[in-house]
Amino acid sequence: MVTLSTVILAAGQGTRMRSHLPKVLHPLAGRPLLAHVLQTSQSLANNTNYVVYGHGGEQVQQAFANWKELTWIEQTEQLGTGHAVAQALPQIEDDATVLVLYGDVPLIQSKTLQFLTQAVTANSLAILTVDLEQPTGYGRIVRDHRGQVVRIVEEKDADAITRKITEVNTGILAAPARALRKWLAALQPNNAQSEYYLTDIIALAVADGFHIHTQQPHSEQEVLGVNDRIQLASLERYYQLQQAHDLMRHGVSLADPSRLDIRGEVTLTGQDIFIDVNVILSGQVSLGEGVSIGANCVIQDAIIGDHVEILPNSVVEDAVVAQGCHIGPFARLRPGTMLAEGVRVGNFVELKKADVGQDSKINHLSYIGDCDIGRAVNVGAGTITCNYDGVNKFKTTIGDGAFIGSDTQLVAPVTVGAGATIGAGSTITKDTPENQLSLSRSKQVSFPQWQRPQKKA
Ligand code: UD1
Ligand code: CA
Repeated sequence: MVTLSTVILAAGQGTRMRSHLPKVLHPLAGRPLLAHVLQTSQSLANNTNYVVYGHGGEQVQQAFANWKELTWIEQTEQLGTGHAVAQALPQIEDDATVLVLYGDVPLIQSKTLQFLTQAVTANSLAILTVDLEQPTGYGRIVRDHRGQVVRIVEEKDADAITRKITEVNTGILAAPARALRKWLAALQPNNAQSEYYLTDIIALAVADGFHIHTQQPHSEQEVLGVNDRIQLASLERYYQLQQAHDLMRHGVSLADPSRLDIRGEVTLTGQDIFIDVNVILSGQVSLGEGVSIGANCVIQDAIIGDHVEILPNSVVEDAVVAQGCHIGPFARLRPGTMLAEGVRVGNFVELKKADVGQDSKINHLSYIGDCDIGRAVNVGAGTITCNYDGVNKFKTTIGDGAFIGSDTQLVAPVTVGAGATIGAGSTITKDTPENQLSLSRSKQVSFPQWQRPQKKA
C-alpha cells in the first residue's frame, strides 16, 4: 500500500479576515477551519499529516494540542505555495504520495481525495480543477491541442487569452514525493509575485514526460477557500443546509431547513422528530423517536429520549433527558442534569447537577442545584435549593412522593423525607421526617386598629 503524506498549507496571514485569530482557527459549524481539513485527511488510509504554519503558529498548535499524528512544520517566511510544500518534504520519504491541501479550504471531501491520490503513479500526478463562471483570481489550467494539461498560469501572470480560460486550479494536488522533491528544488520566483509557485511544477512535470491527470470535485463548494468573513458565512450556510438535508433524509421534519444550525454531531435514535425554527444543536446531541424541539432552543451535548417535548426558548447543556419528559418553555438545564422518564420542567426553572426521578414535576420559577429528587415529587413554584455558602456546594436530597410547597428555600445540606410535605414559604434548614408536614413560617398577625399614614394636604 502506498504511504500518503498530506501537506496542509496554513502559513498565510489571512489579512482579509481582519482578525487577531489566525484564519484557520475561525470556526465553521463550531469547529476551526483546519479541524475540518484534518478530520477529512485523517480519514484517508495510511496517511501522515504535516501542517505548514507561519503566522499565529503557537495559537494554532495550541488549538490542536490534543490531535494525534500531526507534524508541525514552520515556514518562517511566506515565499509562496511551492516554498511552503518544500518545507515539509525533508520529512517525507521518496516512495510516498504527497497530497497538498489548504487549511482554509474546509469542505473538501475524502472521496474526492481518494480518487485524486489513486491517480498518482511514478510518472503521473493529479490535480483537482474546477470550471468557474468567474475564474478571476485563480490559476488557469492551460491545455494543448490534444487536451493535455501543459501548465498552470497564475492570474497575475496571465495574458488576456489565458485569462479567458474558465478551468481553474483549486490548489489541491497529489504527486509522487521523489519527483516533487526534484521539481520543488528547481522552482524560480520569476513571476509577477516573486514567489515560489507550487503551480510551476506542472510545466516541469510535463517536461519530464509526466502525465497530468485532472479531476473535478463533486460540488464547487468542496474547493472554495475562505479569505474573508463573507466567504466564511457563505460556506457556513452551505454546510448547514447540507446537514439539514441529511437530517430530513433520516426522518426529521424541519420547520425551516435554513434556520437550524448544527455545530457538532447529531445522532438519531428514532425518526419522526420535529425541529422548529432557530434551533442550535451543538457538541454531541442524540435525539430519540418522536422528539419535538420548539423554536429558539439551544441544545448542547445532550441525550434526549423518545417522545421528549422541549418547548420554545429552552437551553439544555450536558444533560440526559429520558423518554416522555416535557421541558420548557424557558427552561434551563445546566451540566449534570439527569431527568428520568416523564419528568416535567416548566418555565423559568434552572437545574444544575440535578438528578430528578420519574414523573416528578418542577413546573415554575425554581433553582434546583446539586440535588437528588426521587419519584413523583412535586416541587412548588419558586423553590430554591440554597446549595452554596460562598465557598462550598452542598447537596439537597428529596425523597419519593414529597411535596414541596411554593416559595420554599432548602438550605443544603438537607434531606426531605419520602412522602414529606413542606409548607409554602418555608426555609428548611434541618432534615424533615418522612410523611409529615414540616414548615418554618412566622405566625401571621393582623392589627385591627392600624391606620395607614396619611399625606398632609
Ligand atoms: C493558489 C494557486 C492558484 C489557485 C489558488 C486556489 C499557487 C501559486 N497558486 O493561489 O493557482 O487557483 O491557490 O485558491 O499556488 N500559503 C502558505 N505559504 C506561502 C503561501 C501560501 O502556507 O508561502 C498558503 C496560504 O495560507 C493559503 C494557500 O497556501 O492557504 C494558498 O495561498 P495563496 O497565496 O492564497 O494562493 P493563491 O494566490 O490564492
Ligand atoms: Ca487563496
